[in-house]
Amino acid sequence: MEQDKLISLLNDMSLEEKIGQMLQVSGMFYTEDGVLTGPANTAGFTQEEIRLAGSVLGSVGAEQLKKIQREYMERQPHHIPLIFMADIINGFRTIFPIPLAQGCTFDPELVEEGAAAAARESAATGLHLTFSPMADLVRDARWGRVMESTGEDAWLNGRFARAMVEGYQGHGSLKEKGRIAACVKHFAGYGAPTAGRDYNAVELSERTLRDDYLPAYKEAIDAGAATVMTSFNTLDRVPSSANRWLMRDILRGEMGFEGVLISDWAAIGELCSHGVARDQEEAARLALEAGVDIDMMTNCYCKHLKKLVASGAVSGTLIDEAVLRILKLKNDLGLFENPYKDADAVQEQELALCAAHRQTARWMASESFVLLKNDGILPLAGEETAYIGPYVANGEIYGAWSLFGTPETTVTIEQGIKNRGDVQAYFAEGCPLSEGFGRAKDACASDKPAGKLLQEAVELAKRADKVVLALGEHRRHSGEAASRADITLPACQMELFRQVCAVNRNVVVVLFSGRPLDIREISERAAAVLAVWMPGTEGGNAIADVLYGDVNPSGRLSMSFPYCVGQVPVFYGQFRTGRPYTEGMEDQYVSRYLDIPNRPLYPFGYGLSYTTFAIGPVQLDAQQMRRTDRLRVSVTVKNTGSVSGSEVVQMYLTDVHASVARPVRELRGFCKVHLEPGEEKEVSFEIAEDMLRFHDIHMNYVSEPGAFRVYVGNSSETENGAEFVLEE
Ligand code: BGC
Repeated sequence: MEQDKLISLLNDMSLEEKIGQMLQVSGMFYTEDGVLTGPANTAGFTQEEIRLAGSVLGSVGAEQLKKIQREYMERQPHHIPLIFMADIINGFRTIFPIPLAQGCTFDPELVEEGAAAAARESAATGLHLTFSPMADLVRDARWGRVMESTGEDAWLNGRFARAMVEGYQGHGSLKEKGRIAACVKHFAGYGAPTAGRDYNAVELSERTLRDDYLPAYKEAIDAGAATVMTSFNTLDRVPSSANRWLMRDILRGEMGFEGVLISDWAAIGELCSHGVARDQEEAARLALEAGVDIDMMTNCYCKHLKKLVASGAVSGTLIDEAVLRILKLKNDLGLFENPYKDADAVQEQELALCAAHRQTARWMASESFVLLKNDGILPLAGEETAYIGPYVANGEIYGAWSLFGTPETTVTIEQGIKNRGDVQAYFAEGCPLSEGFGRAKDACASDKPAGKLLQEAVELAKRADKVVLALGEHRRHSGEAASRADITLPACQMELFRQVCAVNRNVVVVLFSGRPLDIREISERAAAVLAVWMPGTEGGNAIADVLYGDVNPSGRLSMSFPYCVGQVPVFYGQFRTGRPYTEGMEDQYVSRYLDIPNRPLYPFGYGLSYTTFAIGPVQLDAQQMRRTDRLRVSVTVKNTGSVSGSEVVQMYLTDVHASVARPVRELRGFCKVHLEPGEEKEVSFEIAEDMLRFHDIHMNYVSEPGAFRVYVGNSSETENGAEFVLEE
């Protein structure tokens, strides 16, 4: 439909119809048959309000969504189609590793491929939009939602946010088959809640917000993301859904976002709990004035906008602008011509968990694993191995937001090992998965008493050559509303670990988690540690691939593992202080802890391989750079071991002197390079002036002339560097 037709449609709509378009309701108001259920007063909506609501979230199923759509359109005066949205975070039926793990692949192309597979499965079930990517920067491992982010680096997150948007939306029109719209969230700064507690206030300086937190959202918007979601938090004391400066000046004005802005679930109503709105009516006015187009699951817009317009408290123009954006989104998806888009029950069946998607999931999982320690015990060969731990036979390894994943369709470690057929392996549960706090109360598969489980495991460990201990936090101990003050493993798992280590020195820990954990003791005593995060549908196969060396691990941490919780937020790109501390020195009045190191246990960018690599000195094609130049930086990378493998070569920049204190270093390039034993390649990067920019003392986004350092290596701690000067 042409823009002028959309405008005449808008002009023809009644105010009630327009307000209806601005309400999103949950699929719980519809039955399996697509029929609107009885009075929907559980959430305070009237039948009529639900009847007019222009979008639905959380429902899936081609047949059901077609029925809902048909019924809905028939009863609308202008037969405007519904738009169906859902949280497809790391896959729909085929579950990929959680986003934090995807970040560890350092492979945006692979992540794009995963998002495209998720889009195909989603489109066939009748969905039109996913609430992804989450582009929030995360630096505090206590926050449960770090699992939904690709990590602690703003620039890296931008690469992945773009990859996901392009994976979902494609590079052409949203109408294309198998494409769905993306929603960038949670705008803005949701990843920095005070003390790591979900929904808590966010306090960031404007410079930190602009330099570190906004760039990844911006990258996703520049990639063409159709929608943006507001965040739950306050930023500088203003809740996002009422933040005009953030939404109108920055998001729409500076970033040029023209799409639909949707509130997070009930966030407009929560303006009352924040204490910035007296009642729902004021909340509706504040959100509309801030530019929020869709109210997700509250009564604020549907019950109050009409009154507000009638009294002149808000202008009808604001409503028209919002509704036009919503109509345009529906039009961009082609819903006016084909309201069912790709919903197709046959395709839905064929695509769900199909071999091609499973293969991508398996590859992505193995690429996301990070080998944190290996004294040479891995890869395993044919020796007798005992697989022990609560994650050995557990299929719930797909992360908190995998709403449509099931243990039945997920490959456990035990299945993955058995699928190999050629190994001598024995299996035992060892202990319960959790100790029953929060939302993970009954986490033991067996009904045997804990003492018996432990005893069986220890007996098995005594007899085996090697032990693989599959430990970790419960999948419901990360994700939304799953913050933790103590990020260690449950005591029962640590007891199992200690008892097994006492009888067998060859212990490999396979660690499942939705966040970096405090694993000091494990990292000291285990012979090897492999972080597998929440690996998804093909987790067990991918773990077997890596343990037995079919795949050489090449994941690198996208978020530092803290030494302990007292260190968080800990991240590599910290600011220089006036009293820097040099590890190992006994200086007193310097920035350090008395009882723990400053360094994280494992830093950003770190990860081992079954082979070794040598990265040569940094070569620059010039020592001086004019603003229009591109400086070429190169190193040689050689596989110095005996098996083939991939190294993630990382380039960091340091601004030596500037008008404000700058991070100690910032990632500005990476390249995953595959090398056969003995093979050497040259890897090069380009530095352009815009990579040196930041918000200066006057809050201008500029680069300042002077000295810079460039580092190229295999982690954020590399000392392999050279210096250059940016000329006036
Ligand atoms: C979450 C969002 C999510 C929304 C819809 C909220 O609770 O914060 O990330 O997209 O629910 O399910």
